Amino acid sequence: MCGIVGYAGPDRESSRGLEVVLEGLARLEYRGYDSAGVAVVTGGGIATQKRAGRLSRLTSALQERPLPGGSAAVGHTRWATHGGPTDANAHPHVSPDGSVALIHNGIIENYAALRAELGEGGAVFLSETDTEVVAHLLAAEISTAGSRGGAQALAAAMRAVCQRLEGSFTLLVVHADAPGVVVGARRNSPLVVGLGDGENYLGSDVSAFISRTKRALELGQDQVVTITADEVGVTDLDGAAVDATPYTVDWDADAAEKGGFPWFMAKEIHEQPRAVADTLLGRSDASGAMTLDEMHVDPSVLRAIDKIIVVACGTAAFAGHVAKYAIEHWCRVPVEVDLAHEFRYRDPVLTHRTLVVAISQSGETMDLVMAVRHAREQGSKVLAICNTRGSTIPRESDAALYTHAGPEIAVASTKAFLSQVAACYLLGLYLAQLRGNLFPDEVATLVAQLRDVPDAVQTVVDAADEVRELARELVDSPTVLFLGRHVGYPVALEGALKLKELAYIHAEGFAAGELKHGPIALVEPGVPVFVIVPSPRGRDQLHAKVLSNAAEVRARGARTIAIAEVGDDAVLDHADVVIRVPAVPTLMAPLVTVVPLQIFAMEVATAKGYDVDQPRNLAKSVTVE
Ligand code: M6R
Repeated sequence: MCGIVGYAGPDRESSRGLEVVLEGLARLEYRGYDSAGVAVVTGGGIATQKRAGRLSRLTSALQERPLPGGSAAVGHTRWATHGGPTDANAHPHVSPDGSVALIHNGIIENYAALRAELGEGGAVFLSETDTEVVAHLLAAEISTAGSRGGAQALAAAMRAVCQRLEGSFTLLVVHADAPGVVVGARRNSPLVVGLGDGENYLGSDVSAFISRTKRALELGQDQVVTITADEVGVTDLDGAAVDATPYTVDWDADAAEKGGFPWFMAKEIHEQPRAVADTLLGRSDASGAMTLDEMHVDPSVLRAIDKIIVVACGTAAFAGHVAKYAIEHWCRVPVEVDLAHEFRYRDPVLTHRTLVVAISQSGETMDLVMAVRHAREQGSKVLAICNTRGSTIPRESDAALYTHAGPEIAVASTKAFLSQVAACYLLGLYLAQLRGNLFPDEVATLVAQLRDVPDAVQTVVDAADEVRELARELVDSPTVLFLGRHVGYPVALEGALKLKELAYIHAEGFAAGELKHGPIALVEPGVPVFVIVPSPRGRDQLHAKVLSNAAEVRARGARTIAIAEVGDDAVLDHADVVIRVPAVPTLMAPLVTVVPLQIFAMEVATAKGYDVDQPRNLAKSVTVE
C-alpha cells in the first residue's frame, strides 16, 4: 500500500530528479492510486505538488505549474488509511516551517497521542493523516538539536523520531538545508535501495528504479538509510552502521511494461505458461528427483514435522488451499489452511514439529508478516513461498522457495497464483521424496506431468475467444456463482474473487456439495453458475458428483457454464455452455481450470469500462493490518 520513490543526484538545477521520481511513481501506482505527490529540494527550499486522484492528475498539475529542478526528490502514490483521498491528505506533508517534506507508507498507530501532544504546543495540522505528525516531529527534532538539516542531522533526527513511533512505516524525508540528500527509514513496511552511477534511489520495491539500475540493497527492520549522489549509508536506530545485503534484480524494465497488451493483467495472464515453467526450472534433476537446494531447513526437521499450516491472504490463500489437497495426498501429513489475519488471533496449536508455509506474491502483506513472526516465536519453522526477492516475509522466514513469475503489476493476481500453486506442488513432492511417502519413480512421473502443464496452460490462454464472448453476454448479471469440489473448490473461490474485485459483481464460490445445505436458495432462473468439472478419469466419483450438482442448479433455471476437460462428453447433458481445457492430472487441474475464470473477470470488467489493473478501493500490496 502506497508507493514511495526517492532520488539523490549531483545536479542542483536539473529536472532529472523529478523525472526519475515520476517514472518511478508510474511504475508503483499499482500500490495505491488515491492521490499522488512530489517534493523537490531546490536552491530556494522545498517545492511540492500533490493532487487527489490518479497520478495523471498530478502530472497535469505539474505541466500547468512546473517545479524547479533539484538534486533530491521524493514522490508518493497513496492508498488512503487515515483521512480521505483529498489534496490536503495527499503526501508529501511539509513541516510548519517549510523545512521538511515527508512521505509515508504504513500506519503510525500512536499518531493520536503525538498529535495531541503537538497540539498542546500550538501545532496546527493541515491534514487528517497520521503522517503529518511525523513531519512536525522531524522539524522540531532538527531545530532542538540546534543543527541545520545536513545529511547527518537529518539521519539523526529520523532515528530519534522513529524511536517514538509505533506501528508500521516506511518514511522518506528531505530537508531544505540538505540538497542532494534523502533519508529513509523502515519498520514493518518495505523499502529498497537502488544503486546507480552517480545517483542513488529508494523505492517501495525495485520497480521504482528498475529502468535505471538492477543493483539493489535490502534494508532490515528498524534501519535508517541516507542516500546522496555518491554514497549510501545504513544504520540501526541507535546510529550503529549496518551492512545492508546487496542483490541483483533478475528481471528488467520490459517485464514491468504492458508490452502491447491493453492491461497488465492481460499481459500477466499470457505470461502464465512461462511463470509456471520458470518456477519449475532447476528444481528437479534429469532423473526426475526433486532438488530443492533453497530448502535451508534441516532434512531431519522436515522428516519429523507432524503438521503443516499454510498461511496467506486472498488469492495466495486459495493457492494454499490447493496445496492442502496435493500435500496431504502425496505426503500423508495433515495440512491446515489459514487466513493470515485469523491465524494469529485464534491461538493456533504450533510446535517445533509444525511447518508453517507462508505464501505471498509481494512478500510484504502485513497480516502475513505478523503471522510469520508469531509462528517463529512459537518455535515452528517457517517456509516462505514468495515472488519478491528482498521482501520482508522471506527475510523473516527460515527458508524461502521463490516463485519465478516476474513482476506482477495488475492488482488482481493471476500468474502469481499459478506459480504459487506450482511451488506448492514442488514442496509436496520434495517432502514426499524426503519422507519416503512416494517411490522415486512416482516422484519422477509426477515431475514429468508437472513439466507438461505449461503447454496445457498455453492452450487455455490461446483459446480465450469463447470466454470473451461469454463475458459480453453476461456483463449485466447481478450475481454469478462458482461451484467446485476437491481442488475445484479453491478454483471456484478464486473465480468469484476475480469477478468481485474487477467487475464489482456479486459473486460467490461454493464447495459444490455444500450447495444443497443453503446456497442453492440463491439460484433463480438465468443466474450464471460456473461449474469446475473434474476429470472423468479421476477417482472417487468426483466427476459424477459434480455433474449431479450442475444438474441441480440447471433444474432450477441457472445458466450453467462448465469448465471441463476436452473429450468429457457427459458434461454436455448438464451445461448450457462448455469451456474446454486440456486434460491434466486431477491434482494439477487448478493450473488450467482457473485461467478461463481469470479471463472472464477481466473481460467483464473491460466490457463495463472499468480499470482492470487498478480496481476501486484496492491496492496491490496490503502493508497494513
Ligand atoms: O502479495 P500477497 O500475495 O501476499 O497478496 C495477497 C492478497 O492480497 C492478494 O492475493 C489479493 O487477494 C489479490 N488482489 C487477489 O487478486
